[in-house]
Amino acid sequence: MMRLAVVGNPANRRVKLFTAAAGRAGFKEPDVYAWRDVLTGGPVPGPGATVRIDSPGEDAEVERLLRGAGETALPGEIVGGADAYDGLEKILDRIAAGGGRLLNPPADVLVMNDKRRCHARLADAGIPVPAALPPVGDYAGLRAAMRAAGWQRVFVKPAHGSSASGVLALAVARSRIMAMTSVEIGDDGRLYNNLRVRRYEGERQIAEIVDRLGPDGLHVERWFPKAGLGDRALDLRVVVIAGEPRHVVVRTSRTPLTNLHLGNARGDVATVRAAAGEKAWEAAMRTCSDVARCFPRSLHVGVDLMFRAGWRAHAVAEVNAFGDLLTGIDTYGDEIAALADGRYDACAR
Ligand SMILES: Nc1ncnc2c1ncn2[C@@H]1O[C@H](COP(=O)(O)OP(=O)(O)O)[C@@H](O)[C@H]1O
Ligand SMILES: [Mg+2]
Repeated sequence: MMRLAVVGNPANRRVKLFTAAAGRAGFKEPDVYAWRDVLTGGPVPGPGATVRIDSPGEDAEVERLLRGAGETALPGEIVGGADAYDGLEKILDRIAAGGGRLLNPPADVLVMNDKRRCHARLADAGIPVPAALPPVGDYAGLRAAMRAAGWQRVFVKPAHGSSASGVLALAVARSRIMAMTSVEIGDDGRLYNNLRVRRYEGERQIAEIVDRLGPDGLHVERWFPKAGLGDRALDLRVVVIAGEPRHVVVRTSRTPLTNLHLGNARGDVATVRAAAGEKAWEAAMRTCSDVARCFPRSLHVGVDLMFRAGWRAHAVAEVNAFGDLLTGIDTYGDEIAALADGRYDACAR
C-alpha cells in the first residue's frame, strides 16, 4: 500500500483536507512534515513515501524562514519575493534528496513560481499567453519598454508573487496614467497588501510602487481584454489533475483583478460555458490539458485562464503549483483517486 506524506503547514486546512481525503479513500493517515520543522533542519520524507508538497504560504514564520534570517517583514508587507524563491529552491532540493516520490517535482514548482520562466515555458510549447515585455527592472525601464512595444496597457506582476500581491493593471494615455492594484503604500513608505483594489492616478506613486517591486523581479504582460458578464470581468481557475481538467471555478470582478480573496465573486460555470459556446470552451479546456503536459509529473496544476472579450480567443495568465484549493470542491479526493487508480502513473511516465 502506498505510504502518503505531506510537507505543509499542519494548522492549514489544505493539510487537513488532504489527510481527510486520504482517509476516505482508505489510505493510512499521511505523515505530516511541518514546513517549520523541515526549514529548521528537521527530517524530510524518505524513500517509499509518496509526497505531496503543499504551499508554504499563509504562515508568517514559515515565510520568514524561507526568506532567510536577513529580512524582516511587517504583517502584510510585500517584500523578499526573490529571497523566498531562493529559499524555496534550497529546501525543495533537500526534500528531493530525501528520496520520496514527489507529486510536485521541484523543477516544476520552481518554474511555476517564477512567472517569467513559466511564461517562457508555455510560449515555447505554443500555448496562448499574453505577449510579454523584455525584462524590466524599474518604472523608467517599464515606460521605455512600453513605448518601444507601442503598448499602452499592461499587467505588471512580481515574478514570484501570488494572490494578486503586487500586481498592477496599468494604463497610460498621453500624459495620463492609471493603475489598479491591491498594493497600499504605508505611512512608512513600505508596500502592503490590502484586500481592497484601489486606483492610483499619480505617476509619482505608481513609479514608487514599481520601483519598490522591481528588485525582486517583474514580469510584464500586455493587458489581455478579458471577457465578462454584465459589468464584471472574469477568468477561470482550472484545476488539472493527472492531465485532465477536472474542476473549474469562475472568478468575476468589477476590477481587472479577479482573485477571490479580494472580495470578488464566484460566477456560474454553466453560464460562462454557454456564453463562450461549446467550441471556445472545449478549446480552453484543451489549452489547460496542454499546460499540464508542460509539467507531466505534477499531479495537479492550477491554470488561470482568461477568455478574450468576444470569447473567440483565450490566454493563460499563470500556472499555480499550489493552486488546487477550491473551497467546497473535493479536489484532493480527486487527486487521491488519480493516484490510486493509476491515472497519475500513466501521465507521469
Ligand atoms: N495579461 C493580463 N491581462 C489581463 N488580466 C490579467 C493579465 N494577467 C493577469 N491578469 C489578471 O490579474 C489577476 C492576477 O493574475 P495572475 O497572473 O494570476 O497573478 P497572481 O499570481 O497574483 O494570481 C487575475 O485576475 C488575472 O485574470
Ligand atoms: Mg493567479
